[in-house]
Amino acid sequence: MHVHRYEAAWIRLTIAMLVVFFCAVMTAAIAGGIQLPSPQGYVDPKDLSGTDFDPPGLRQLSTGHYEVYMVGQIWRWEPNEIRIPEGSHLTMYLTSRDVQHGFNVIGTNINVMVIPGQVSRVEHHFEKPGEYWMICHEYCGLNHQTMSGSIIVEAAAEETQ
Ligand code: CUA
Repeated sequence: MHVHRYEAAWIRLTIAMLVVFFCAVMTAAIAGGIQLPSPQGYVDPKDLSGTDFDPPGLRQLSTGHYEVYMVGQIWRWEPNEIRIPEGSHLTMYLTSRDVQHGFNVIGTNINVMVIPGQVSRVEHHFEKPGEYWMICHEYCGLNHQTMSGSIIVEAAAEETQ
């Protein structure tokens, strides 16, 4: 079968681009630690009683390991402020009571949709002390822009000699 040399060149270019895109995706997934936002479970958004979201809040699992069950609703996160020591690993479970929200923690790779009835799970290792803003990045109504909170990563107390 004869393939014109221009056509053969385009085929080679297409294959090369697929290889480049595949490498870019793999680099982002491995080096950037992309977390696929797959649903971790389902709840009734109208009645969270009896679930892990009742009440929402931070729980310590072991030294340096925490989990937080967080509920989004117009227009706040509950809890709205989380305090953990530096070097902590935090696993976050999120759901919404009302409409779809978006959850992003500035300075981390936490970025997930928060959907009524669905539980989203993300995790992050907080190495550096500081205040990390949690914002809603999905328009959810009149006061969407006020829907924010913070994760405060506290520096370990200085050792006295
Ligand atoms: Cu919640 Cu925007």
